[in-house]
Amino acid sequence: MRNFILGIVITIVLILAAGFIAVHFGLLPTTADATPPAIESQIASSAMDAAMERHAPHIANPVPVTDENLIAGMKLYSMNCAVCHGTLDYNPSLLAHSMYPPPPQIIIEPLDDPEWHIYYAVRTGVRYTGMPAWNKALADEDIWKVTAFLSRLDNLPPVAQDEWKKTYGVLPKSRDGGEHNHSMHDMHHE
Ligand code: HEC
Repeated sequence: MRNFILGIVITIVLILAAGFIAVHFGLLPTTADATPPAIESQIASSAMDAAMERHAPHIANPVPVTDENLIAGMKLYSMNCAVCHGTLDYNPSLLAHSMYPPPPQIIIEPLDDPEWHIYYAVRTGVRYTGMPAWNKALADEDIWKVTAFLSRLDNLPPVAQDEWKKTYGVLPKSRDGGEHNHSMHDMHHE
């Protein structure tokens, strides 16, 4: 029994010493443009999902889903989020591989999380990543608008699609990767 306890104590001391050496002698990597190993991404994303499930209130989006609000969400996205998450012309962000972990390109690969999850992630940010908590920078209502927009990227009403095309030069893609074709859009603008 004594040896067993001694073994545990020595193990703990060795782990602490290894940690100290790694920190003190600069062995820990600091570069942000590396790709996280798959196992690390997997653990981080499970931890994230479990924490969301536990902490985020499962509430419905209180902002009505109108053309106006979705277009406002689109503009909020372009101004605040596109720099990291990719622009509405379907180009990846120039910073797509410059952060650790890298920001997901959520226009190219739309999120499939419920709105309460997206809202909470945007409002409170994600610790140890470059994802800011937006609660001091955006009004609550605006966070819900951008959430509504991101949840309907491939299912926007025609007026919002037209606005997208007018501003960013391409039509939003549908889930199968093709362009939406609602017959009116070209006629509107020509
Ligand atoms: C400075 C860069 C940066 C900006 C600006 C930024 N994000 Fe992020 N965002 C990140 C990074 C990095 C992650 C990845 C976090 C992770 O790995 O869990 C992320 C993750 C997310 C996620 C996914 C969270 C999850 O559940 O995994 C959502 C949703 C999101 N961002 C929305 C937004 C919105 C909306 C905006 C604008 C209001 C925004 N982000 C602005 C860097 C950014």
